[in-house]
Amino acid sequence: VRTRVAIVGAGPAGLVLSHLLASSGIDSVILDQRSRADIEQTIRAGILEQGTVDLLATIDGSRVHTVGQRHDGIELRFEGEGHRIDFPGLAGRSVWLYPQHEALKDLLAARIGAGQDIRFGVTATAVEGADGDRPRIVAVDDAGVPFEVEADFVVGADGSHSVVRKAISGSHGGFFREYPFAWFGILCEAAPSAEELIYSNSPDGFALVSQRSATVQRMYFQCDPTADADALSEAQIWETLQRRVPGTTLVEGRVFQRDVLRFRSFVARDLRRGRVAIVGDAAHTVPPTGAKGMNLAVADVILLARALEALLLRSDEAPLDGWAEAALVRIWKAQHFSWWMTSMLHVAPEASEFDRRRQLGELRSVVSSEAGRTYLAEGYTGWPLG
Ligand code: DHB
Repeated sequence: VRTRVAIVGAGPAGLVLSHLLASSGIDSVILDQRSRADIEQTIRAGILEQGTVDLLATIDGSRVHTVGQRHDGIELRFEGEGHRIDFPGLAGRSVWLYPQHEALKDLLAARIGAGQDIRFGVTATAVEGADGDRPRIVAVDDAGVPFEVEADFVVGADGSHSVVRKAISGSHGGFFREYPFAWFGILCEAAPSAEELIYSNSPDGFALVSQRSATVQRMYFQCDPTADADALSEAQIWETLQRRVPGTTLVEGRVFQRDVLRFRSFVARDLRRGRVAIVGDAAHTVPPTGAKGMNLAVADVILLARALEALLLRSDEAPLDGWAEAALVRIWKAQHFSWWMTSMLHVAPEASEFDRRRQLGELRSVVSSEAGRTYLAEGYTGWPLG
């Protein structure tokens, strides 16, 4: 198979990139080792920045404005008291609660409807020829039949276990951080406990009250990274959550989905080599606090699409040469923001009494200063693309 841009990964980054390229008349082929149903069922975060929503809203059939819900603020809770961060008032923007798998259903339907070539069940095993004009993806389909895609440019949007990344920087070459905790996440059948998200710091650890709909809620609480999602009874889950959101009595309901989310930060040292680039989780991982993952993936590909248009339509290599540096500015801002929200709200297992009181001092500083609240609102709603 030959195409102009070969994309590995039909997640948000790969699908949005193919949409942007198609709008400029550039053909692409997307490979993904998963099936369409698997992609549509992956449970991920639910918060979209204003810029992400504005882009998704331009895609035919998008339900982001009808099923998604605008959120004009969040609450930071500590010492049993809530402090609202007013997004439009402080940053002039909002966020939208629209789960990633719903956005993926819209994107897949729109791309397939537009005739996009997407090969499900095809696993990329290597990328060759990064330094030449015709890089190619070596792959194998579900039946074990070898498969190659040759292109003008190859993009790895293939997640944190990226195969494409190896063609850029080998298996080393990145900046890592591990955290001594994880999140226990649940989906439950219940009415909302609050109208907006509550990020709650308590002496027992962090909890996040999020929503999905009038009848389904998403909540998380800080846990040990080795925790077994099946080890807790529903009563224990609710007891933990209730204790960590002092000041609110959560509406309880049947827990029908549970998972443990790892906390890691990662940025690849190199995002591009010649005619191969990586975007989204292939290029970086953020801890979940602040829900930056999908938003950052979309920002990467908006910038990359502009650079590929210049390269492929006008033979202008300059935007591509500046792409990684431009993308990394936002990536490191988002890394910092996710790390900061995480460290400000969680209780590290080794935290001393000094650390605990310093953390409360930090939270108090942020909420009592308009500059502090504005900084949080700007980061949460997403910096303008520039
Ligand atoms: C959700 C996840 C997050 O990581 C976050 O910061 C906010 C909301 C969610 O899944 O709803």
